Amino acid sequence: MDNDFNTYFLKKKEIIDKALLMVLPKDNCLISKAMRYGVLNGGKRIRSILVLVAAEAAGAAYKNILDIALAIEIIHCSSLIHDDLPAMDNDDFRRGQVTCHKKFGEDIAILAGDALLMYAFEILAKNLKKYQIKSERAAKIMILLCEAIGSRGVILGQVLDMKSENKKISLKQLKEIHSLKTGKLMQVAVRIGAEALQLSSKQTKSLEQYALHFGLIYQIVDDILDEVGTKKELGKMPGSDKKKNKSTYISVCGLGKAIKLSEQEAKKATASLRVFGQKAERLRQLVDFIVGRRS
Ligand code: IPE
Ligand code: IPE
Ligand code: MG
Ligand code: MG
Ligand code: MG
Repeated sequence: MDNDFNTYFLKKKEIIDKALLMVLPKDNCLISKAMRYGVLNGGKRIRSILVLVAAEAAGAAYKNILDIALAIEIIHCSSLIHDDLPAMDNDDFRRGQVTCHKKFGEDIAILAGDALLMYAFEILAKNLKKYQIKSERAAKIMILLCEAIGSRGVILGQVLDMKSENKKISLKQLKEIHSLKTGKLMQVAVRIGAEALQLSSKQTKSLEQYALHFGLIYQIVDDILDEVGTKKELGKMPGSDKKKNKSTYISVCGLGKAIKLSEQEAKKATASLRVFGQKAERLRQLVDFIVGRRS
C-alpha cells in the first residue's frame, strides 16, 4: 500500500473507530459488554470505509453519511459473531482475540449478534430522521437493507455456504455464494449511501457494480488467506476452511486460478467507475489494497 493511501485509509479508520466507540451502549450490562466486544475488538472497517470513500467520489462530505457507514459496520460485526459460532464455522479466534462465544458463552454471543443487528437499524432509522430524509426514501433505504442482508441476501449466502461443506460445487455456484454472503452487504452499503445522498441513477449503478465486484474480490482473497496466511497476520486461524471441507476458491479452482480471478474482478471493479473519472481514484486504490492485503 503506498504511503499516501495508507495515511488516507488510517484516517478514515480512525473516524470509524471513534464513532463506533461513541455510538455503542456504554453501560455495564452483560449484553452491552458482549456487543462492544464483538465490534470494538479490532477489525479493518473495510465496509464502512467503503461507504465514506464512495461518498467522497460523488463529491459528498463524509459527515452526511457516517451513521450509515456505522450501521453497515455493526451489521457486519453481528454477522461475524454468528459466523464463528460452533453451529456455524466453529472458530475460536477473531481479530487476534478469542471469539465472542468463547469469551461470553454461546447464549450471550447469539443474543449479542441479534442485538447488534437491531442496534444497527436503530442507528440508521434515527439518522435518517435527523437528516430529514423524506419518509418514503427512508422506507426505501430500510427495505433495500433488509432485502440485502436477509434470506435472499447475506443469510441465503451463509445458508448455501454451510450446505456446500463436504460437497463438490461449480465455480458458478461458488461465485453466487460469495456474492451473496459478502458482496451483498458491500453493494447495499453504497446503494443506501447513494440513496441518502440522492445521487444520480448513473452514479448509483456504477457504485453498486463496483461494490459487487469489490465484495467478490474480498471473499476470494479471504479464501486465499485462509490457505496461505498466518494466525498472526489474520488474527484468526488459517486452515479453518479446509478443516470443515468448505467450498472455497481454493477447493474449487486452486490457488493460482483464485489469484487470477481476483485480479480479473479487480479490473471489472475499476472499470465500473468510469462515470466518476479522476474523482474515483481512492476507490481504485481501495481495490488495489484489498487485492494485495495480507490481513
Ligand atoms: C471477514 O471480514 C469475513 C468476510 C466476509 C471475508 P473482514 O476481513 O472484513 O473482517 P474484519 O471486520 O476486518 O475483522
Ligand atoms: C463470512 O465468511 C461471511 C459472513 C460473515 C457473512 P467467512 O466464514 O469466510 O469469514 P471468516 O473467514 O470466518 O472471517
Ligand atoms: Mg463462514
Ligand atoms: Mg467463518
Ligand atoms: Mg473465510
